[in-house]
Amino acid sequence: MRILHVVGARPNFMKIAPIMQIMSKYPEVFKQTLVHTGQHYDTAMSKVFFDDLQLPEPDVYLGVGSDTHAQQTACIMSAFEPILLEQKTDWIFVVGDVNSTLACALVAAKTGIRTAHVEAGLRSFDRTMPEEINRLLTDQISDLLFVTEPSGLINLSREGCPQHKIHFVGNVMIDTLLYFQDRAEQSPILESLGISSRGYMILTLHRPSNVDHRETFENILKALVEIGQHVPILFPIHPRTLKLLSNFKLLNYFVKSNPSESPIIRKGIHLMDPLGYLDFCKLLANAKAVLTDSGGIQEETTWLGVPCLTLRENTERPITVTEGTNIIVGRNPKKIVAECLNILGGGGKKGNIPMLWDGRAAQRIVDVLMKT
Ligand code: UD1
Repeated sequence: MRILHVVGARPNFMKIAPIMQIMSKYPEVFKQTLVHTGQHYDTAMSKVFFDDLQLPEPDVYLGVGSDTHAQQTACIMSAFEPILLEQKTDWIFVVGDVNSTLACALVAAKTGIRTAHVEAGLRSFDRTMPEEINRLLTDQISDLLFVTEPSGLINLSREGCPQHKIHFVGNVMIDTLLYFQDRAEQSPILESLGISSRGYMILTLHRPSNVDHRETFENILKALVEIGQHVPILFPIHPRTLKLLSNFKLLNYFVKSNPSESPIIRKGIHLMDPLGYLDFCKLLANAKAVLTDSGGIQEETTWLGVPCLTLRENTERPITVTEGTNIIVGRNPKKIVAECLNILGGGGKKGNIPMLWDGRAAQRIVDVLMKT
């Protein structure tokens, strides 16, 4: 079977890694090709993950870069089409919900090549999110739908997806978290930042709904500054968010580090460069709490048993709320502060690990594929 894997943006890398690794155990069955669209291109957003996750160099790099949604999606499609036309491919594998996912699935559907979508069926029911559009459309045109949590099964059935396409296999991102857990544990990041386990919170923010409007962004920062009086908050920042912070002149909300001492021991919000996979996992595992608008981090914190406050009005990953450690706090400053103080006072949600988040999702995917 000739498999072409597609990655493009940061959250794709940890999802494709375990699938490629399991397939490589069957060299007589699978011939794998890795295509990187170049949606993310900075070293800190891409190359670091290839190193940390021991991913092979991409066979093809499309180098599309950043642009508007339409331009970026169109560029990926026109760069990807000749690759699919010239290579013999039985299946393409796309993961998650980024523009690269939809763009490549669409090209495959039009050239008659079968598509497997990993992390199918998740729905926030919020069509103002670009990812929701990507999820809905990718699922409609895919031939195999690999689902991480039971809500995905319900959503896909309700949308009329044929049952034979749908497979509940668990979560490949958790495969990666488990596989690299020991190596992440060896990261020296806590010592190098001068922080101790449970002595800090982590913040990530990049959703347009949180950071594209100055007033919304500033209101969130004001709430976080209040929390920062009690505990250091580490903010590894997405390049897009950094640009907006600077354009909006909001950099005054952050602690200025003193280069002669470790910058992080002080309370307040600390801006940091984006982190690699292993360092970030070490920080996640040892955090007092995580504040985020990311999707994947809601799942990683649930598996790690670390309280997560999601700074969005909804989640496409409801199992992290019903079973895991996630609380949806939205953008309400009062709620954000109250939940953080509760955690600092010894509260914080305890959770369970969802069904099939056991490190064997990629094996299940490969088993299904071999029977198809
Ligand atoms: C994308 C995904 C989002 C995912 C996120 C993870 C879509 C629609 N969005 O959002 O679902 O959660 O990745 O990071 O696909 N930039 C750089 N360097 C890079 C990449 C991006 O500076 O390597 C900056 C550029 O200013 C760019 C902006 O970030 O315009 C946005 O990048 P883009 O890939 O379009 O979307 P993300 O916000 O990263």
